[in-house]
Amino acid sequence: LSKQEMEDRVKQIKLDLGNALFIPGHHYQKDEVIQFADAVGDSLQLAQVSAQNKEAAYIVFCGVHFMAETADMLTNNEQMVLLPDMRAGCSLADMADIYQTERAWEKLRQQFDDSILPLTYVNSTAAIKAFVGEHGGATVTSSNAHKMVEWAFTQKERILFLPDQHLGRNTASDLGIDETEMAIWDPIQDELVFTGDVQKIKVILWKGHCSVHENFTLNNVDYVRKEHPNMTIIVHPECKKEVVDAADYNGSTKYIIETIEQAKTGTSWAIGTEMNLVQRIMNQHPDKHIISLNPYMCPCLTMNRIDLPHLLWSLEKIQQGSPINQITVDTETASRARLALERMLERA
Ligand code: 13P
Ligand code: SF4
Repeated sequence: LSKQEMEDRVKQIKLDLGNALFIPGHHYQKDEVIQFADAVGDSLQLAQVSAQNKEAAYIVFCGVHFMAETADMLTNNEQMVLLPDMRAGCSLADMADIYQTERAWEKLRQQFDDSILPLTYVNSTAAIKAFVGEHGGATVTSSNAHKMVEWAFTQKERILFLPDQHLGRNTASDLGIDETEMAIWDPIQDELVFTGDVQKIKVILWKGHCSVHENFTLNNVDYVRKEHPNMTIIVHPECKKEVVDAADYNGSTKYIIETIEQAKTGTSWAIGTEMNLVQRIMNQHPDKHIISLNPYMCPCLTMNRIDLPHLLWSLEKIQQGSPINQITVDTETASRARLALERMLERA
């Protein structure tokens, strides 16, 4: 099928299914997919729209696996959440598995008793969210991490932040927590990496990272400062702290989009986030000079697995009465994970 034929088919199926179909799309998705999304947003917005939608029987999630799991946990039992390509995972979410987390928790509790609250970035599996929910903690997204970390410290003396060390470190640091008060939990070695008085630890960062945002470096920042001295640098907080510190602004995908929208015509920007979003922002703002902070652009390979042929395949299967790639979280895990999600949604 040609691209045009595939697009025509998707349009027709959307018309045929009407409100029975809902397609949420993350900002990092390809344009060929985003053009058909009923809601486009960051992780928090997509969690919220999924929770609000009570009428769609089929939610075809254009994003990655953990997002589809979250949608499944927040929608009702009659709604089916489908992921057009099961290979659309997230390397960051995969960096914390539940067995490693349980082992870490046991050791940390031996050392710190009941003084730790777990928090997890939404970029984590349902099992990790369930673990966090069960132990009184909450999920966070890149747009509410500050608020949620502040809340966590009203509950306990210290936090365990899963699975993204960079978002955890950047957020804690913005809230005035010194790096000497932060330790790393290494899940491969099963040990706490810290030199100093352990009783001073306030934040324990899980040693995970996003393989896309790690590609933005201090060298990239230095190069832009030298070659384009009038350029403003804006990055996602999944970037390393040294990059975030050297940039002018940092925030979630929603924040990056809004900041560029509000910027004056003729201004120049270097953006440190996933390639599809950077390219879309460039196309939408021909009046501004915009580049990727890393000149090679940085694609998220797993987000890109959702493409037009997979979207069409997923929709055709629904129409044929045999939907594929349903994402389901078992009821027991979902009920514990919802505790963590709800603690965030009521504060976000
Ligand atoms: P946000 O859209 O919440 O900023 O998340 C970025 C991301 O990496 C999603 O996978
Ligand atoms: Fe995961 Fe990073 Fe891709 Fe987001 S950009 S889905 S955090 S690997």
